[in-house]
Amino acid sequence: MIVDGQQVAGLPKTENLSKAMVDVMEQPLHERIRILRDIEFLDEKVDSISGYMERFLSSVMSELKFAFSEFEERSLYSVHRSLFLLYELQVIDPAHSAATNQYSVFLQKVKSAIESSWLASQAVASFVEAEPIYDIEEQLVKLYESHPVTNHRLFDYLRDTADMDQLISFFKSDCALNNRFFDLIVLTLVGARPNTRVEISKNIWDEAGQGNAGKSHVELYNSLLVSLDIDLVGDDYASLLSWQGLEGYNLFMMGALNRQHYFKLLGIMAMTEMLDPQNYDKLISGCRRLGVCDELQLAYYEEHAEIDILHAKGWVESVVRPIVKDTPSAGQEIYIGAKYRLDSCNRYYDYLLNALESERASRIHEGFASRK
Ligand SMILES: [Fe+2]
Ligand SMILES: [Fe+2]
Repeated sequence: MIVDGQQVAGLPKTENLSKAMVDVMEQPLHERIRILRDIEFLDEKVDSISGYMERFLSSVMSELKFAFSEFEERSLYSVHRSLFLLYELQVIDPAHSAATNQYSVFLQKVKSAIESSWLASQAVASFVEAEPIYDIEEQLVKLYESHPVTNHRLFDYLRDTADMDQLISFFKSDCALNNRFFDLIVLTLVGARPNTRVEISKNIWDEAGQGNAGKSHVELYNSLLVSLDIDLVGDDYASLLSWQGLEGYNLFMMGALNRQHYFKLLGIMAMTEMLDPQNYDKLISGCRRLGVCDELQLAYYEEHAEIDILHAKGWVESVVRPIVKDTPSAGQEIYIGAKYRLDSCNRYYDYLLNALESERASRIHEGFASRK
């Protein structure tokens, strides 16, 4: 039996495993999910313990109440970390024991409960459902230009004030999403309307370095990390993310892995492409100020500062526009996705700036770690 990537002694026998699964109920939700997720063919074990699923789901519901009705930070972290771990099941290495649980009914129920509660809270926080769509392209640009995240102070801080440790903290915090982005664009292509495939494929091609393995965006990002002696770790520093960071990551995965939210994903993507260029220009200035100025070091952010201007235009004109022309009701979903992206990004940047301003990078890491 492999649990959490390691051989675990004492669990192979069904009776011992059942006891371990019951004992784990004492732990925080995300710890329970982490352990259970990695038990091969989990559903068989869950079915063998009377009332286990009901008891577990009931504990999930009370955690969701603390998270999304009472906004308790610890619960917000726990549910977003849980959702992160559950989404990973859809992209996990096939050799991992958790791959057997990709379609676990038990875990799907937990995931759906978290998603429903989270999206309901987003809808209340974002007030966008009633917004009528009259011109999606114009409305997306307006939304972007009027949103407080558009000129967020985080990037002024990185440009003018941050020290090297803080810059490194920022790079670590950016790692998980940057390195997952290839999968996210690929997932955008799955089931895409035929008249949008070329534009999405162009994005994938750019992400893959236009056929040059050394210039794939993952490779460029990892080159930056290696040049600064930042270890390349298996989880891309996801374990350092606060709930706000996990929320931003989960938003992409939610859109990419749920057909009913696919149109939201297009809005999420469009806003991401619009946001990055100007922020990255500031970040690049900060890098140069701190002596991070090799061509290879800056390649990832310089590439995105340029190419995302084209991607933003491409998403709006060649993906969003034809879809809304054929399916006007999709405009509402695209707009909602865009708003969710900007709102969650704003929460994340607020958090990160506050952390950078108030602590040295080493203390930020300790703070992240204590949330685990
Ligand atoms: Fe990229
Ligand atoms: Fe892009």
